[in-house]
Parts: sequence; structure tokens; C-alpha cells
Amino acid sequence: MDLKKFWLPVFIGILIFSPCDAANSRNSSAKNWSKSLDATFPEQLRRGLRSCATVASPGEGGVCKILAAMDEQLKILAAPKNRDPPPRNSCKFKSDNGASLHRYATDRSPALQALLDRYSAMHSACVARDHDNLHHIIAKNTAKITNPSQCRYIVWSCTFGLGNKLMSLVSTFLYAILSQRVLLLEESPSWDRLFCEPFIDSHWKLPRGLSLKDDQSISFPDFYARCRGRLARSDACRSQPVLPIVFSANTKPEEHRFLVCPSAMASVRNIPVLNFRNSNQYFAAGFFLNPSLRPILEAIFPERRVFHNLAGFLLNPSDEVWGSIQSLHSMKFRGASRRIAVQLRESKGDYRDYYDASVPRCIRSKSGLCPIEIDEFLESKNKSIASDDYIAVYVASLVGEHAAKLNASLRDVESQTGQRFELVTLGADEEQRDDVDHQQRALVDIWSLSLADVLLTSHMSTFGYTAQGLAGLTPYFLKPWRDDPCWPSVSSDPCFHFAPSKKLSCREDGFSLSGRESGGAAMACPDLPDTGMQLLEPP
Ligand SMILES: *[C@@H]1O[C@H](CO)[C@@H](O)[C@H](O)[C@H]1NC(C)=O
Ligand SMILES: *[C@@H]1O[C@H](CO)[C@@H](O)[C@H](O)[C@H]1NC(C)=O
Ligand SMILES: *[C@@H]1O[C@H](CO)[C@@H](O)[C@H](O)[C@H]1NC(C)=O
Ligand SMILES: *[C@@H]1O[C@H](CO)[C@@H](O)[C@H](O)[C@H]1NC(C)=O
Repeated sequence: MDLKKFWLPVFIGILIFSPCDAANSRNSSAKNWSKSLDATFPEQLRRGLRSCATVASPGEGGVCKILAAMDEQLKILAAPKNRDPPPRNSCKFKSDNGASLHRYATDRSPALQALLDRYSAMHSACVARDHDNLHHIIAKNTAKITNPSQCRYIVWSCTFGLGNKLMSLVSTFLYAILSQRVLLLEESPSWDRLFCEPFIDSHWKLPRGLSLKDDQSISFPDFYARCRGRLARSDACRSQPVLPIVFSANTKPEEHRFLVCPSAMASVRNIPVLNFRNSNQYFAAGFFLNPSLRPILEAIFPERRVFHNLAGFLLNPSDEVWGSIQSLHSMKFRGASRRIAVQLRESKGDYRDYYDASVPRCIRSKSGLCPIEIDEFLESKNKSIASDDYIAVYVASLVGEHAAKLNASLRDVESQTGQRFELVTLGADEEQRDDVDHQQRALVDIWSLSLADVLLTSHMSTFGYTAQGLAGLTPYFLKPWRDDPCWPSVSSDPCFHFAPSKKLSCREDGFSLSGRESGGAAMACPDLPDTGMQLLEPP
């Protein structure tokens, strides 16, 4: 990729609001989005919103409103009768404080913590009341969707690989919180073998036997075209029980309105079930383009580490997976003076030699070795390689030959730097497969990568994105075809590969993305500048 191709879209590509840009964007950002936000809450949950009117900042005011709406939902559900004391879910990862191994982790903001606490309470209360009736709530013909006390749901399913799944799941969870909807998974039972249940006294499974995979409801763009604004009062719009939402490489601009346009969010507020079906994108970043959500998101994620903060809550490895992570970690990682992790993705699954020279070069230049020490070492040639200190290099690849080659070339790096290197690997799987054992191994690989101090990953890989997001580390992308093969990314948050284009307009809301300038919140992804969008951490 040549330099011009990279920088041009950075300047003209994905653009976000700023209070201090050109005059026309000042006008639109000065617009009071408070009303637009209020319209996104369903009528029955609006009672508490007034109490937030005294909060001056739009971000904190918005958080206050979301909390108030969840409170209202809890009030409506008050004291379910005959509720058995729920079993408490145990999770070794949590009781061992496994998260403490992420040394570059950032705490959740108080706003996010408050939202997660309130969301969890709402989730548990809704699941306790509705779970056995979800068949009726969802089944089209018997839908009693006029019941105003009803909780609203999101059903998520995804058949892509693990990395894609996690991009889409974390994004969906963000929307669930913002829209006060309960997130349920339509997944094979094997999910339990990957992750612990995130909701301590509840669960997030769609009832067995219930599936929305074949649901034939009209698409979001058709619904929005038919039901936005005043038309939303028509019966057809009010009785839509399920609406599918999909973000993939083929997503059309009209579908991106779901993320960007406040009126689109308002149009779906009364639909009982949103069906997030087979998305493979990290669309969480796209909500930052929505002017009524943007201040709220900035308040919840002051460092814009959206994936990192949400995954820290949602993704806790199962006991089985955690056991494997721990044993790898204690074998070679814990004692190392520095940890480097390398992820080598081969799209065709075949070994190619083009990483062979570049990866050792990147390890030498990016592992934080001090050049002065290396010079001294080279001058006194007969000094033996440093004592007990060593640098651990974790290699994750489906192709076993990569680990063997890298291990051999690390011996050269040793003689060039005077440092001892230990290669750690889980072993190759040879092909991407989707049975549970392979997914468990993939998760161990992702987690081990995320425990590094320096992360070298293949660009465009959602596997690598997951590791960088969990770690809170900005990775280097391996680009062996370049002179400088270790290309730094711009943040730890993943890239939204196929993000809304600058041409997108929200007519109902009176703005389009083209009129807006970057406020430094996001830029084109270094690894997919033409269509990708990535959040930046504030300076
Ligand atoms: C911005 O708003 C002011 C008044 O609020 C108006 O006079 C001006 O024309 C607007 N500028 C643009 C570029 O829309
Ligand atoms: C925005 O509008 C709401 C209600 O319409 C009002 O209470 C609030 O004070 C306004 N905020 C600003 C900054 O004008
Ligand atoms: C190198 O090793 C030899 C013998 O082990 C020793 O005599 C010599 O002083 C060493 N040189 C340096 C520069 O340390
Ligand atoms: C890497 O090479 C060293 C030295 O040749 C060897 O002792 C070690 O077992 C190898 N490690 C792996 C993981 O293959």
C-alpha cells in the first residue's frame, strides 16, 4: 500500500464532529440533540428522564437518562412472584482475578460501571420474568407486543470465526446498553466451554429450540423508509415484532443509518426484538458518528477504549480455557523479563516464507532492547549471553512451520543482541475450524497474545484485534512487503472495516457526515484506510 493511498483517506475519510471546526459544522454541533435523544427511549420508560434535566453536560445528562430508563424498566417489573433464588455462577477466571494479568488495562469509568450494574439488574429481572414466554414474545403471530411493561430484547447470532464473532458481540452489547435492551445469545451450547456466564445471577441464552436464524422480517432500511417520523404511528410500524440488523462487508449505506441517525434509533424503539444476525464487523465505533450518542460515549469511554472496557466485563474465559492460559503463562511467560507476541495469519493456510526475514527484524527493533547495550555486547564479543534473563516470544499461527522458522532465526537475534529468547507456542492447528476444541485453542491463543508487552499481528485480522483490545495495547502490523515491516497501528480499539461513508446523510435529523470535520476522535484504519474507521485515544 503506497503512502498516498494511506494518508489521503485519513484526511478526507471518516469524519467526526468537533466544536472548533468550520462554521457549518459548528452550527450542527451546536444543535441541541437532547430532544433527539429523548425520542430514542420508548414512551413507557420516559418518566424518569425529567430528573436528568438539571445535568448540564450532554454526556452526563445522556448517561443519567439511560440509567433512569433502566430504573423505570426495573420499577415496572417490580418483585416477580415466586422467584427461586438464582444459582450463582462461578467462574475461576473471575475468582482468580485473571484480568490482573493484563498489565496495560484501564479501569472502567464510573459512568460505565454504573451502566453495567444497572444493565445487569435489568437483564436479570427481564430474563427471570420473560424467559419462559419468549416464544410468545418473539413468535410473530402470537406477539402481544402492546403490553407496555414488556422488556425489549436483542437476539445475537453469528456463524463467522471467533474473532469476527467477538467484534460483533461486543458491538451488540454496547447497543444493548445504550438502548436498554436485554441481550440474548442464539448460540450452540458450546459457548459455555469458551466463556463464563457474564451475568452473575442470570444467564444470556435464548431458550432452547427458539431460533431467529430463518426469520423473514423486512430489513431495517425498508422498515426505516416506511416507518420513520410521523409514519411510525401506523399500525404496520407498531406491530413489527422482530427486525434484523446486519453489519458486514456488504452493508449498504441505508443500513448504516441505524448507527448514525438519531431518528433511526428512535424509529426502532418499540420493536420487541432486534435480531443482530451474522454481523462480522466492529460496528461499535460507528455509534461515535451519531451526534446524540457521541457525548454519552465520550462520557462512558473517556479513553475511547471501547472494546477493552466492554470485553473486560463480558468476556471471561471458561474454567477449561483459563486453565490452559494459566499453564502456558506460568511455563514461560511469567518468568520472562519481556513478552513479545506474534500472530501470523495465513489466509490460505499455507506456509509462505515472507514473514521469515521480517519478523526477526521486528522483534529486534520493537522489543525494547536498548541499542547501547547491544553495541557494548557486540564490542566484547566473548561475553556469554545474559544470565537468567530472557525474552519470551509467543507465536500464534495456524501454520506450524512459522514457529519452527522463527525459533531458528531467534538464535541469530540472540547472537546479534546478547539476549536470550524463549519461544512459546500452543502448537499449530493447520486450518481454521469451528468445532469447540479448535475454538478453545483459538481463545487460548488470543488470550496468550493479549498478555504480551509488545504485540506484532497480521493486519486486518479480527483475531489480532481481539488480542490488542483485551490487552489495551496498540499493536504493530506485520507488513513484510514494506521496507518498514512493523507498521504501528493507532490505538488498541479494533478497526470497523466497512464503516459508514462520508456520503451518508441523515435527512430526518438534518445533517450528513460530509459536513463534519474530524475532532481527533477517529481516523481511517492504518490497515484498511479506504473504508475503515478506528477510534483514537485522546492525547
Ligand atoms: C450558522 O448559523 C448561523 C445562525 O445560527 C447562520 O447565520 C449561518 O448562516 C450558519 N452557517 C452555516 C454555514 O450554515
Ligand atoms: C436542550 O433542550 C432541552 C429540552 O429541549 C433543554 O432542557 C436544555 O436546556 C437544552 N440545552 C441546551 C444546552 O440548550
Ligand atoms: C575474552 O575472553 C578471554 C578468555 O576467556 C579473555 O582473556 C579476554 O579478556 C576476554 N575479552 C574481553 C574483551 O572481555
Ligand atoms: C527452539 O529452539 C531451541 C534451540 O534450538 C530448542 O531448545 C527449543 O526447544 C525450541 N523451542 C520450540 C518451542 O520449538
